[in-house]
Amino acid sequence: MAINFPDGFLWGSATAAYQVEGAVAEDGRGRSIWDTFSHTPGKTTHGDTGDIADDQYHRLDDDLDLMAALGLKAYRFSVAWPRIQPDGAGRPNQAGLDYYKRLVEGLHRRSITPCLTLYHWDLPQALEDAGGWTIRDTSERFGEYAALVFDALGDEVPMWITLNEPWVSAWQGYGTGAHAPGIADEAKALQATHHLLLAHGRALDAWGSSGAKGQIGITLNLAPCLPASDDPRDGAAVQRVDGNQNRLFLDPIFKGAYPEDMVRHYQPTSDFSFVADGDLEAISAPVDFLGVNYYMRHRVAADPNDPERGFAILAPGEPITAMGWGIDPDGLTALLVRLDADYPKLPLYITENGAAFYDYVDPEGGVDDPERVDFLDAHFRAAHNAIGQGVDLRGYFVWSFLDNFEWSLGYSKRFGINFVDFATQTRIPKASARWYQKVIQRNGLDD
Ligand code: FCB
Repeated sequence: MAINFPDGFLWGSATAAYQVEGAVAEDGRGRSIWDTFSHTPGKTTHGDTGDIADDQYHRLDDDLDLMAALGLKAYRFSVAWPRIQPDGAGRPNQAGLDYYKRLVEGLHRRSITPCLTLYHWDLPQALEDAGGWTIRDTSERFGEYAALVFDALGDEVPMWITLNEPWVSAWQGYGTGAHAPGIADEAKALQATHHLLLAHGRALDAWGSSGAKGQIGITLNLAPCLPASDDPRDGAAVQRVDGNQNRLFLDPIFKGAYPEDMVRHYQPTSDFSFVADGDLEAISAPVDFLGVNYYMRHRVAADPNDPERGFAILAPGEPITAMGWGIDPDGLTALLVRLDADYPKLPLYITENGAAFYDYVDPEGGVDDPERVDFLDAHFRAAHNAIGQGVDLRGYFVWSFLDNFEWSLGYSKRFGINFVDFATQTRIPKASARWYQKVIQRNGLDD
């Protein structure tokens, strides 16, 4: 079926600083937890690091031209905190601010809307050394950092995101240790959850006093959860996963309270005494939109060894992506409709959706990725379906504009709609990029 999106629908693509910029020691940039983590033996595939990544720092104009050629309406990027405050505090590093000014001006010159994320996981190492997201002070530092960026770019950037996926920062960074800073401690993951949310609140405070006129929101990675069977124990396990992944973040932001079942669930590890008076008011200050990153739905079963607290997320059935993630466009519709039903109505953006596949350059020099075209086609239709059910979805950012440093999996997973030959830094638009260009032009999909 042919479908059309609402007029002005914001078609974009996304990246994040550490995944694409490289130039980690240039123009006064300080070290971040991802520099430390990726340089620690055994933490990333092949020991890959973001030292060079896509070298976007040096290839900015070419990448901007590539965006324009693709017809992108918006580009979502993140600011590397350690470029602005090398040690996470104090006066801004002008060279760092200048880089992002150049990026934003370059976007405007090409009529591409800048969408700026303040924090996509690259905490200054100096702040981690002082306790990182397990301590309150880091939230205060984040508020100050946000104020500096609002000051420098508040008039130029219409769309702001405070944090990208605080669940990943807290629960992979401090809960499992799969991400920087590599700590595995449930109590610390809970502290990090709260201090990240408080940091979001502090950034909103700073936004209010900055006089900037754009829109501000937060991006969460949300995953709908289904029970593996109708056994009530599986149903209870679903509540726990949904609680941890979704409600632990959505409820404080939109209802001003942590979910009671989660507070009870974590009682053995934490009494939530890190919540101070006024914190939840700050965290639940109004936002203009919610950014949703959707990759998959979870099928959840009770853990037979720990039926009271445990759970198992089951391996997805076919089809899967190169990440091993299940392909489930209906989950996106379900998620958007649920947000609309359970939380205050507000504009939504898909700030990330996309997939890794085994892309390669063929003998003719092209990169054909029909799996990604099918994936995006199905997910765009799923989003359109939600709009048809009354969801106020305003835009869609494909992850990612370029193949890049996929965190602990290094360069082994390719999410780009543009292929990157990392040895030469050549960019080759994949078939999906050319397909996406037509979707954008048409503001919809053909049969
Ligand atoms: C998200 C991250 C993004 C990218 C995709 C695949 O969790 O926000 O940086 O790694 O996953």
